[in-house]
Amino acid sequence: MMNAGHIDLSKYRKEFPFTKEIVFLNHASFGPLPEKSWRATEEYYKYLRLKNMADADKEAFQILDNTRKLIADFIKANPEEVAFVTNTSYGLNVAAGGLDLKRGDKILLSDVEFPANVYPWTNLKQKGIETKFIPSRNRCFDIDDFVKAIDKRTKVLSISFVQYFNGFKNDLETIGKICEENDVFLVVDGIQGIGSVDLDVKKCKIDFLSCGGQKWLLSSLGTGFFYLSSEAKRKLNPCFFGWMGVDWGLNWTDLLKFDLKPFTSARKFEIGTFPYSLLWSMHASLQLLSQIGIKNIEKHNWELLNLLIDYLNDSPYQVESSLEPLHRSSILSFSGKNIKRLYEKLIKNKILVSFREGSIRVSPHFYNTKGEMERFVQML
Ligand SMILES: Cc1ncc(COP(=O)(O)O)c(C=O)c1O
Repeated sequence: MMNAGHIDLSKYRKEFPFTKEIVFLNHASFGPLPEKSWRATEEYYKYLRLKNMADADKEAFQILDNTRKLIADFIKANPEEVAFVTNTSYGLNVAAGGLDLKRGDKILLSDVEFPANVYPWTNLKQKGIETKFIPSRNRCFDIDDFVKAIDKRTKVLSISFVQYFNGFKNDLETIGKICEENDVFLVVDGIQGIGSVDLDVKKCKIDFLSCGGQKWLLSSLGTGFFYLSSEAKRKLNPCFFGWMGVDWGLNWTDLLKFDLKPFTSARKFEIGTFPYSLLWSMHASLQLLSQIGIKNIEKHNWELLNLLIDYLNDSPYQVESSLEPLHRSSILSFSGKNIKRLYEKLIKNKILVSFREGSIRVSPHFYNTKGEMERFVQML
């Protein structure tokens, strides 16, 4: 009973003790911290901040390197193309602030983007850079409309990997090809997909991707990363620059060196001391996800959502998400009469989902069981 798809759930359920009391189907809002990741944070504090107080720079930087590597594996990039940030927005601002954009240049966005991927771009208005919203169709990004919107002034498309409220997975492979052909810099907000949906940033020709760790990566608030492709590196300058952007070779005894060269890797954009305790736990969470495998997670989540779709197809509710395999993710939304009341009833009964843009949004992760899904469907 504890097996679903390829995942032996009995190995992992203990990492999420709250599952004894609540059914958590809300990873598109925030992900829980696995027990082992919490222990990693505790260990960091005990070892380095409460008791031992050892100066463990080598160990710390090794964990950072390993974490960059785990992230790179998830998105099929090189670790040198990965840098840490504190949230998705910070990374998107690195792109918006670092591109060499001029008065009259144009940024394209979908009109159903999460605001984190809007404000960094509209903020460029003060420099005379225009943001144009491509109207969505059925609340989904339409590639033909995107192609029509491209003109000589278009320099950037910034788009979500997976749309936050209906889980629409954008066809980044096709979008990336179009961007390359038209010399448009492709920025992706990855937070609603990375950790539960497979992505190959190279195949999709993504120039830049930003992703907070707090949702599908089951990491602490205040963690995240961005990817900058080595081909696109020359197009981006650091809008902030700090002492962690240059290579000290782990030697902190002689710091009055003001002429060190920036890293050639994405670390050039990392500016100061890292939130070690958070990255310690992120490292543990990524290890867990990588042990299970993103493709297995994706398959598992689809199977769970299929149970819901089967029910919804024969119910008074309407599925608001695309069911085309190319556009499916780990998020499914549905609407219907008195939907807000239903949402409130679910929350009261400790079945946690979210309510977004008029629909109930359901977002299971790898440790959710068929039994939990059936309980949810029964409540409907
Ligand atoms: C698509 C998308 N982007 C970004 C965010 C959050 O951005 P940040 O990590 O900067 O808080 C969310 C949700 O909170 C989201 O759904």
